[in-house]
Amino acid sequence: MQAITKTMIEEAAAFIRRTTDVRPEIGLILGSGLGVLGDELEDAVTIPYEDIPHFPVSTVEGHAGELLIGKLQARNVMLMRGRFHMYEGYEPERTALPVRVMKALGVEKLLVTNAAGGINLDFAAGNLMLISDHINLTGKNPLIGPNDNALGVRFPDMSEAYSKRLRGIAKETAKELGFELKEGVYVGLLGPNYETPAEIRMLRTLGADAVGMSTVSEVIVARHSGIEVLGISCISNAAAGILDQPLSHEEVMETTERVKGQFLSLVLTVLPKM
Ligand code: HPA
Repeated sequence: MQAITKTMIEEAAAFIRRTTDVRPEIGLILGSGLGVLGDELEDAVTIPYEDIPHFPVSTVEGHAGELLIGKLQARNVMLMRGRFHMYEGYEPERTALPVRVMKALGVEKLLVTNAAGGINLDFAAGNLMLISDHINLTGKNPLIGPNDNALGVRFPDMSEAYSKRLRGIAKETAKELGFELKEGVYVGLLGPNYETPAEIRMLRTLGADAVGMSTVSEVIVARHSGIEVLGISCISNAAAGILDQPLSHEEVMETTERVKGQFLSLVLTVLPKM
C-alpha cells in the first residue's frame, strides 16, 4: 500500500474545495449509528467517499461512507458519516487520511464519536462517555515512517490528547441540559472480533473504561496536525463477560438508535461553544 503523501492530501483537499465555498473550521467523525447528525446540516454538499481522490471506501454496515460539508449551528463543518477502520484492512495512516484532509482545508477542531463497549461497571448501555484519554492497543501507529515536518513534529506530545478546554465545555453543557455524562479512558483495539471476557478484565486492570475499534489513529493524526480534539463515546453495550449474553453489531446499532436524541442535543449544544 502506498504511503500517504502531501500530494495525495492536497489532491483530496482540492477536489473538496471545488465542490463548495464553505471552508470548514470544525471536523466531525460520526461512529456506528450516530450518522443522524448529518441530517441537521444546512446548505450541505454531500460527497461519497469513492468520489474523493485517495479516500478509502468504508465497508461496514451502519457506516454510510460520505462526507458532508455545510453549516451546523452557524459553524462551518466537515462531517464524516462513516469512517475507516484498520480491521477493514486499511493501514492506520489511511484510516486517518480524512483528518489530514480536514487540516488542509482549515479545520482546527475535531469532534470524534464512536460506539464503544462499557468496561467500567458503573456504565450502562445507552450512557454517553466523554473521552478523557485513550490507550492505543492496536499495535499500530499512523505516524510510522518518515516524518513530514510540514505536517507535524516527529515526536508529538499526547499529554492532552483530548482537550481539557473542550472537555470542560462538554461537561458544562451536559449539566445545563440535565444529562448524565460519564467520563473515562477509551482503549482502541484492532478488532474485528469483540473481546473475550479475559481481555476485558485485563483492559479494566489497565485503566480502560470503554473499548472500541476506531478513533485512536484519527486522534493521533489530529494531535500531530495540531488539531484540538473532543471525543464522545456512546456506550452501546456492556463489554464481553459482564452480562451473561453474547455481543452483536445489532445491539450496538439498537442502542445508538435509542440514544440518538440525547447525543444530538449534546453535540448541537456543544458545537457553537467549541
Ligand atoms: N468492543 C469493541 N468495540 C465495540 C464494542 C465492544 O464491546 N461495542 C461497540 N464497539
